[in-house]
Amino acid sequence: MTIESVKPGASAATSLREPPLAGGGVPLLGHGWKLVRDPLAFMAQLRDHGDVVRIKLGPKTVYAVTTPALTGAVALSPDYIIAGPLWESLEDLLGEEGVATANGPLHRRQRRTIQPAFRLDAIPAYGPIMAEEAYALVERWRSGEALDVTAESFRVAVRVAARCLMRGSYMDARTERICADLATLFSSMYQRMVVPLGPLYKVPLPANREFDRALADLHVLVDEIVADRRASGQKPDDLLTALLEARDENGEPIGEQEIHDQVIAILTPGSETVGATVMSLLLVLTEHPELGDKIRDEVKTVVGDRPVAFEDVRKLTYTANVVTETLRLYPAVWILTRRAVTDTELGGYRIPRGADVIYSPYAIQRDRRSYERNEEFDPDRWLPERAMDVPKHAMSPFSVGNRKCPSDHFSMAELTLITAAVASAYRFEHAPGSDSRPRIGITLRPRRLMLRALPR
Ligand code: HEM
Repeated sequence: MTIESVKPGASAATSLREPPLAGGGVPLLGHGWKLVRDPLAFMAQLRDHGDVVRIKLGPKTVYAVTTPALTGAVALSPDYIIAGPLWESLEDLLGEEGVATANGPLHRRQRRTIQPAFRLDAIPAYGPIMAEEAYALVERWRSGEALDVTAESFRVAVRVAARCLMRGSYMDARTERICADLATLFSSMYQRMVVPLGPLYKVPLPANREFDRALADLHVLVDEIVADRRASGQKPDDLLTALLEARDENGEPIGEQEIHDQVIAILTPGSETVGATVMSLLLVLTEHPELGDKIRDEVKTVVGDRPVAFEDVRKLTYTANVVTETLRLYPAVWILTRRAVTDTELGGYRIPRGADVIYSPYAIQRDRRSYERNEEFDPDRWLPERAMDVPKHAMSPFSVGNRKCPSDHFSMAELTLITAAVASAYRFEHAPGSDSRPRIGITLRPRRLMLRALPR
C-alpha cells in the first residue's frame, strides 16, 4: 500500500465507514481496564474484529490499527503526528522540545543534528566501548552468584548509550541513579497512558510522590551531565557536542531547554529499550539452551578463542538472527500511538482529525496470518531465503518512516555483540525468585529475572 492510496479526497472522508467498536468495554474505564489487566492478549485479538477497531480509553475513543499494511501506512503517512496518550504520558519525562516528541520543522532539524552520530560509518568507532561493556558483564558474572538481570541489563544499556554518545567517565557515578529513576518512571507511565485520570495523579499518594521524585532526579542528572561537559571545556566528536553546538534555523545556538530535552529524549529511549531487550535475550538463552550452544559454536568458528570484537559482528549471522527473533517475539516498543492531523482514511474507514491511533508491534509480529508457527522461537526464519516470505511491515521493531528509530544499526550491533560474548561464556538457569512473566509498561520486558550464569 502506498501513502497515496490511503489519502482520501476531503469529501470521500466523510462518506467512509466508522470502524467497529471492540467488545468488552466497561463504563468509565472503557477498555482501559483490559489494557491494564492483560494488554498483550487484548491487542493481539483485536484483528479478529477488524483491520481498524475503535476502543475506549476512559472517555476517549482511540482507533486501533491491526494489520501490517495499515500500521506501515500510518507510520509513513504525513496525516499522523507524534501525539496521543503514549506521548502525553511521556511529556513530563521527555519534555516538548526533544526529538522524540517534536513534530514538523523542529523535528526535522533535530534529526539532522543527531543523525550523524548514528550513521553506519560512525558506529565502528563505538565498537571498542560496546565490546568492553559486553566483556565487563562476562567478568562480573564469574562469581556464580544469582544475577539480578534487571539491574545488569539496564546498567549495560545506560553505560553503552552514555559512553558512546556522551563520551566521558562522568557517567559512571550516575548510571545507577539513571537506571533507578527510569525504572520508576516507566512502570507508572503505562498506567497513566491507558487510564488517563489526569488530576488523580497529582494527589500526593506514595506512588505519585515516588514518580515525581524520580522525574525531578532525572532532570537534575541531565543538567549535571551538560554542566560537567561545559566545565570540562572539551568538545569530543560525539552526540553531546553536536547538541551543544547545534544552531536553529536562524543560525542562533539552540536554547537550554531544548538541549536538556534532547539529552533526555535520546538517553531515555536508548536505555529503556536496550535494557528490556537484553533481559529478553537472556530469558531466551535460559529457556532455549540449544540456541546458546549454537551461538558458542558460531563464535568459535568465526572468532576462535579471542574475545569477540565489533569487526566480527557482521559475520555472526546466526547470533544476529537470534537477536532479530527476540525483537520479533519480545519487541521492547510493543505499543505506539499517533494523532491524525486531518480527516483521513485508513483501510476504508474514516479517521477523524484529532483521533488518536494506536497499534502494537507485539500483536503484529506474533500474528499467525504473517508467521507460520507464529509463537515458536525460530531464528532461522530470518535466513535470507525465508525472510522474503514475511509480509511488508510485519516486522518493524524499530518502526519505519520519519520517526524510525535512529539507533537501529547501533542497537543491532550492540545487542549482537553482547549476545555473542555472554552466550559463548555461559549457559543460564533460573535462580530462586525469578519471574519471567512479561512486565508491561511503556516497554515490554520480563518481570524479574534472577539467573545463574554457568561457565561453559
Ligand atoms: C524511536 C525502538 C534503541 C533512540 C524509536 C521507535 C521505535 C524504537 C519503535 C519509533 C517510535 C515511534 O514510531 O513512535 C527501539 C528499539 C531499540 C531502540 C527496539 C533497541 C532494542 C534505541 C537507542 C537509542 C534510541 C539505543 C539511542 C541511544 C531513539 C530516539 C527515537 C527512537 C531518539 C525518536 C526518533 C524520532 O522520533 O525521530 N525507537 N529503539 N533508540 N529511538 Fe529507539
